[in-house]
Amino acid sequence: MDDIRINVQQTPAADIEDLWPQEERRSNDSNNTKNLDIQPDCVDKGPSRFNRAAYFDVFEWNSCDYKRKPALFPKWHLPVKVAATLSLSVFMYTFIREVLHPYLMRSRNDFYRIPILVVNKVLPVVSITLLTLVYLPGLFASVLQLYKGTKYQRFPRWLDSWMLTRKQFGLLSFFYGAMHALYSLSYPMRRSYRYRLLNWAYQQVKEQRENAWIEHDVWRMEIYVCVGILALAILAVLAVVSIPSISSALSWREFHFIQSKMGYLALLLGTGHALVFAWDKWVDVNQFIWYTPPTFMVAIVLPTIVLLCKCVLLLPCFDNRIQMIRGGWESKQEMANKSVMSHV
Ligand code: HEM
Repeated sequence: MDDIRINVQQTPAADIEDLWPQEERRSNDSNNTKNLDIQPDCVDKGPSRFNRAAYFDVFEWNSCDYKRKPALFPKWHLPVKVAATLSLSVFMYTFIREVLHPYLMRSRNDFYRIPILVVNKVLPVVSITLLTLVYLPGLFASVLQLYKGTKYQRFPRWLDSWMLTRKQFGLLSFFYGAMHALYSLSYPMRRSYRYRLLNWAYQQVKEQRENAWIEHDVWRMEIYVCVGILALAILAVLAVVSIPSISSALSWREFHFIQSKMGYLALLLGTGHALVFAWDKWVDVNQFIWYTPPTFMVAIVLPTIVLLCKCVLLLPCFDNRIQMIRGGWESKQEMANKSVMSHV
């Protein structure tokens, strides 16, 4: 027992990592923990001991380690909070417009809409908003770099932590997008849909109409579903490429190409999908319930702003300068500031 303890306390963590294969290391570490457990005050408090904590079994968790438990998914805190807040807000908004309004104004019971139809307004709106939040900090960063004329100044803290969580925002956007696709594809399975279809058919017979085909509506649906599928397919590629073992097999340029260019393409397709879905509802005043705009209008405001800003930044006068700054060039003003600082 003593031998093991001496080993634990004197061998640097790096050596342990290099010399022992993982499985062997795991079982030995478990033994070490047990040995350390019976010491009165948990003698070993150095960093090497903390590293080993990663290999402990749940049942072997030591009370002294409790205080040093690593944070649970630290990079997901901000994106999950944002997604949850957005989901709740959009749910309440849609509930008020699509369930409460008909109930109060027309005594119509539309509560059956909550599980699928209301939720399927929340999912796409949150998905496209989270996707926008992946690209918005990059725009802020470009504007800051253009303004400061250098890439060597740190971004503000809030922007730094936002930039570091873009992957999580993107993965959540993909999750919401995939759920939205599943919910959308389940529409024709619902009983409410079948009853409605029967009622429409009956109505049509009563009106003695033989053909219910509306050409522009057919085109609208074919196009927006096709564009939605393409957007989701690209989001899936982005999600797969964000897996560490796959991203590490790509060069920096390839990774950047996929995450940036294809990401913007997914955002463009998502926005196009919502625009085609809206079609001529943009000019329909009945869409404004209790003076509130429909969700598709709310959903595409931020993505449209981001896409327009990106187009502006792609203009040669801005793009060339950004490329120079990212290549290490600094503006004269910035150089002058630096030389003044060095004299001080
Ligand atoms: C297989 C992929 C997809 C399919 C089949 C699909 C289908 C649909 C359907 C049926 C609607 C109408 C929903 C309703 O009327 O209740 C819709 C709306 C919408 N979709 Fe998709 N979609 C897909 C992917 C996506 C993706 C990836 C995004 C976002 C990045 C997205 C964003 C939107 C938005 C913003 C709306 C408007 C929601 C509203 O306010 O009414 N969709 N989609």
